[in-house]
Amino acid sequence: MDKLVALAKRRGFIYPGSDLYGGVANTYDYGPMGTELLHNIKNLWWDTFVHKRRDIVGLDASLISHYKIWEASGHTAGFADAMLDCRSCKKRIRADHLIEDALEKMSDAQLNKLLETYHPDGISEADLERVKKAIIARKVEGLSIPELEGIINYTPIHCPNCGDLKWTGVRKFNLLFPVHLGIVEGDQDLAYLRGETAQGMFVNFQNVVNSTRVRLPFGIAQLGKSFRNEITPGNSVFRTLEFEQGEIEYFFDPEKTNWEEKFTDWKNQMWEFVTTKLGVRSENLRWREHSDEERSFYSKKTEDLEYNFPFGFKELWGLGYRTNYDLSKHQEYSGKDLSILDPQTNQRVLPHVIEPAVGINRLLLMVLADAFIEDTEKNRIVLKLKPSLAPVKAAVFPLLANKPELTSLAEEVFTALKSQVSGLVVWDDRGNIGKRYLSQDEVGTPFCITVDFESLEDKMVTVRDRDSATQTRVAIDELTEYINTRVK
Ligand code: GAP
Repeated sequence: MDKLVALAKRRGFIYPGSDLYGGVANTYDYGPMGTELLHNIKNLWWDTFVHKRRDIVGLDASLISHYKIWEASGHTAGFADAMLDCRSCKKRIRADHLIEDALEKMSDAQLNKLLETYHPDGISEADLERVKKAIIARKVEGLSIPELEGIINYTPIHCPNCGDLKWTGVRKFNLLFPVHLGIVEGDQDLAYLRGETAQGMFVNFQNVVNSTRVRLPFGIAQLGKSFRNEITPGNSVFRTLEFEQGEIEYFFDPEKTNWEEKFTDWKNQMWEFVTTKLGVRSENLRWREHSDEERSFYSKKTEDLEYNFPFGFKELWGLGYRTNYDLSKHQEYSGKDLSILDPQTNQRVLPHVIEPAVGINRLLLMVLADAFIEDTEKNRIVLKLKPSLAPVKAAVFPLLANKPELTSLAEEVFTALKSQVSGLVVWDDRGNIGKRYLSQDEVGTPFCITVDFESLEDKMVTVRDRDSATQTRVAIDELTEYINTRVK
């Protein structure tokens, strides 16, 4: 992970946010390479789930949203993490993460000892079994505050920052970012930065139905920023205060569509996108179903597609069956009918939804981690990104920078490729060719094109392939097609 983070900063993918002024924890800026990669991932997502579909339409809702949206959705009351503070160094930390990290580090013998001794006062046998199951699975998200405190009381967990053992009690902190509009504070001026893009789809459900030709089953898709007052630091862009979500609310009539079949269908589509479109190795992926405690308040079933990040298997993409919870809540809070008419039965339906929800920044981190190779044989670091994702599609080099006949032909090649290749083409004439190759390998450029003295005679160039490092002579006339067919 340290090597990946260092490469990401050194080569212009990811910088710490507000770096110049000492940084703001859990915020990041994307450099020139990271910005290209983000764009490529978002375009692929949008193309796959909107452009190539006949049953999904797009939406782009406001980031600042009415406080009542979040009251209706249950987020102001229920969207909270259980936290505790270290009394010595004042570090605040998520209780479930602190415990899970400690459980991960325990040997089987230590874990068994905890299970044998763990018996808080007043706990029912059923609850005891449930908590023990969570301890064995080393997954305690969703346990109640007394249950989390119980585990901390039964096992000494040192502060990861200062090493002390002086914890406060566990308290809940809401994740929504409030914003006050205008200059007078009060309920009427309170709004929230959205905590998920999903609510935009629910509150615009009637607008979309009335302004388009959609018919059930259909989806509304959105790509955009969400904001959460997360405090768990580390692991680069895995968990940040502001992040880009790609969410689809897929609406259907439960009388006509079997939700379990739809759920499986979406699982297949998500898997296919990650393995085929993003080119991630399937052995690094797995599905994990949420336990009753862990599942969000609005969901009847949730499964996470997890990726084996350098810090372990973690949630990449969630799939939830939200029933008609959100539409019914917005109906109740707004006093407006959100049902739609089924023209076949003449009945009104309040549709149910299945929701695939992914963080684009997590996709980016996964793609970088999966592509990162330390090639000891060739003494290089190479990002073996799918060419369609690579920030730079081709780099053009004149063999020597101080030979006008070479640079002028290389400029011609560069200008032609810039206008004809779909994606970014860059120029590099600094250092020797070997160094230029290594530098392009580190950002995952699939093709490097060198204009040399022979090119002046035969009008051909050397195209060097990133993965195999083999070199092929290609006619300048055929170069655009050569690159375009290979970077799709
Ligand atoms: N609408 C449902 C929803 O928002 P979620 O599991 O809280 O569900 C969906 O978020 C996805 O958004 C996650 O699977 C993850 O990829 C991404 N995500 C959530 N919180 C994040 C954070 N703080 N930083 C980066 N990505 C995050």
